[in-house]
Amino acid sequence: MTVHESVLDAIGGTPLLRLRRLGAGLSPRIYAKLEFQNIGGSVKDRAALSMVRAAETAGHLRPGGTVVEGTSGNTGIGLSLVAAQLGYRSVIFAPTATAAEKISLLRAYGAEVHLVADFVPRGHPDHLASRAADFAAATPGAWLAQQYDNPANPAAHRESTGPEIWADTKGTVTHLVSSVGTGGTLSGTGGHLKEASSGRIRVVAADPEHSRYAGGDGALKYVEGAGHALHPDSTEDIWPEAFDTSVVDQYVRVSDREAIFTARRAAREEGLLTGATGGLALAAALRLAGTLDADDTVVVVLPDSGRNYLSTCFDDGWLTRLGFLEPPDPAGTVRSLLAGREPAGVPILPASLTAGEAIAAAAALGLEPTAPVFLALDRGTRHGTVHPREVRAVVTPESLRQLAAGSGSPEDAALAGVAYQALGAGEPAPGRRPDAAPGFLAVLVDGRIAAAAPWPA
Ligand SMILES: Cc1ncc(COP(=O)(O)O)c(C=O)c1O
Repeated sequence: MTVHESVLDAIGGTPLLRLRRLGAGLSPRIYAKLEFQNIGGSVKDRAALSMVRAAETAGHLRPGGTVVEGTSGNTGIGLSLVAAQLGYRSVIFAPTATAAEKISLLRAYGAEVHLVADFVPRGHPDHLASRAADFAAATPGAWLAQQYDNPANPAAHRESTGPEIWADTKGTVTHLVSSVGTGGTLSGTGGHLKEASSGRIRVVAADPEHSRYAGGDGALKYVEGAGHALHPDSTEDIWPEAFDTSVVDQYVRVSDREAIFTARRAAREEGLLTGATGGLALAAALRLAGTLDADDTVVVVLPDSGRNYLSTCFDDGWLTRLGFLEPPDPAGTVRSLLAGREPAGVPILPASLTAGEAIAAAAALGLEPTAPVFLALDRGTRHGTVHPREVRAVVTPESLRQLAAGSGSPEDAALAGVAYQALGAGEPAPGRRPDAAPGFLAVLVDGRIAAAAPWPA
């Protein structure tokens, strides 16, 4: 057994695992690079250590200093464990939608965690990056990691992940498949493998279907950490400097649903618990492998463990609420979600209606304009499903009742007013910006999205 003198020595050196069951019937050998075997549980430990070491060398981080970063979790976990070992304070800004497991881990490593709104246009003072940068600027001795643009991030993979794969496959690897968040993993690992193989190796980027990287519309995705979303109010689409797009030979686009269900398959069929970005990369690797032959060897990077997502991707209730597990009839889904709590006489309208069409349908049923209407989730055209962060307004039966009665808190009345207008009731919509981008109107039951419809543009 290897004996380590420091936790930092337990970063890297992860194994490859042959995927015999997922790869059954496919010609190439497929190996998974198990990045969750890093001491902090993800591929980002490598980048975190590399960035901290580079900052120390450059004199940006000195004894007693503070490590600061805006991150959806794994980089923060890596940074906070490295900081703990080296005696630095760590302050992490994380989006509110980050999986609860990751937030708890950050705190367990002693990080100070600030949760910030995450569906905010880039450049806005409340954007994650702005909040972290402002904090670092105002804190003496603070250093901001900036993983998206930090060259020490891809360098970590050029120096460790790439050489490990080359050595462990004895130079027989022909294809690398990786997701892209900051791009550090793919650019550094792929860059090294291309050099080592004199350009023979093909590098394949697995991308969530709405991600901008592979040409998607930038809508939000459920696969935390991979892909590039774009807030509709962002004026510029800025890509990370850590992502060297020239390394990519091919993009494979994967839906949230396929990514999540491939991760679940890996757990049940291979005994391999990986997160949604692992599922994303696996789905792309399996699709790619179908086009290759027996001389090929595919290595697919699994960035972190499914343990980070037990309350999300591996929870059937979460999947049902968000529409990933559903019977063929979406209206049936809404009905089952509302089971036993459905107010008498409330119609459930079919999927694919716009909000305006829904209100017309409700009127045709002889409903009062103030009656709550549950709209079945509209899937398919623009978004795979409704992401909670895309919901611009919520309406509950109670808020509509209060609006009709002229009572309720100003916030409730404003929200209900916005929703009311979206439903076509003709009321002015307090607080709604005329140029607001299309979104979703949602009906909440017990604080969870039970149904939603496209917000009229
Ligand atoms: C779960 C997960 N998968 C994939 C990635 C992408 O890795 P990279 O930033 O090296 O592109 C990240 C990055 O944070 C991540 O947290």
